[in-house]
Amino acid sequence: MKQLVIAIDGYSSCGKSTTAKAVASLLHYAYVDTGAMYRAVTLHLLEQGISFDDMARIEQVLREISITFRRHRHTGRNELFLNGVNCEDDIRQMRISNSVSEVSVIPMVRHAMVAQQQQMGRKRGVVMDGRDIGTTVFPDAEVKIFMTADVELRARRRQDELAATGEQVPLEDIIENLRKRDYLDSTRAESPLRRAADAVLLDTTHITIAEQVDFVLDRVSSALFMAGWD
Ligand code: DC
Repeated sequence: MKQLVIAIDGYSSCGKSTTAKAVASLLHYAYVDTGAMYRAVTLHLLEQGISFDDMARIEQVLREISITFRRHRHTGRNELFLNGVNCEDDIRQMRISNSVSEVSVIPMVRHAMVAQQQQMGRKRGVVMDGRDIGTTVFPDAEVKIFMTADVELRARRRQDELAATGEQVPLEDIIENLRKRDYLDSTRAESPLRRAADAVLLDTTHITIAEQVDFVLDRVSSALFMAGWD
């Protein structure tokens, strides 16, 4: 059967990654969490004490670091490795969320991440979630979804995720972080967060994860039908 690229873009904490992971697993496709890659660069710069405007060092970092994903043998969880070290939990911390939009506006960082993402999806059969997948990384993706949801609900989801990793953060701080990231992500010059003309809008405020997954799978069926199921 034809292997597709499924692009799931949208605002932070709308359920993109949960939906993308489930769809990838059902279709036996690869899953790429592109936000995790920008988070990994941010973690590395913070840990090395590199200023976000030191372009010479950032250029060097981008040449040297390795960002890979590996599936955990027992949990099946897709985990991010930075220079061979599992950083899946570190990159989710609030200190990273607070800085990642500043790093992801840097054109050099975007070019390096986009090139790696295009390489990861070159054989197709991939579900990728992010902000610019349907517009910049794979403008030819057969299925494009653009997710949105009420900001307070998104903040509650993020608060639950952080609590599960032992980090207690007040709801107001998370709402402020989401609003700031939405603003920075949508207004940056280089591949801003925006809905591709051919992306379908999915508001996840009042629907369950199972309904989100069904919605995407319906689009996959239509895309396969259009492609003649070959
Ligand atoms: O999906 P996330 O919240 O983990 O993403 C973290 C940040 O990375 C997000 O605020 C913006 C940036 N990002 C991006 O600029 N382009 C992408 N394709 C994915 C994420």
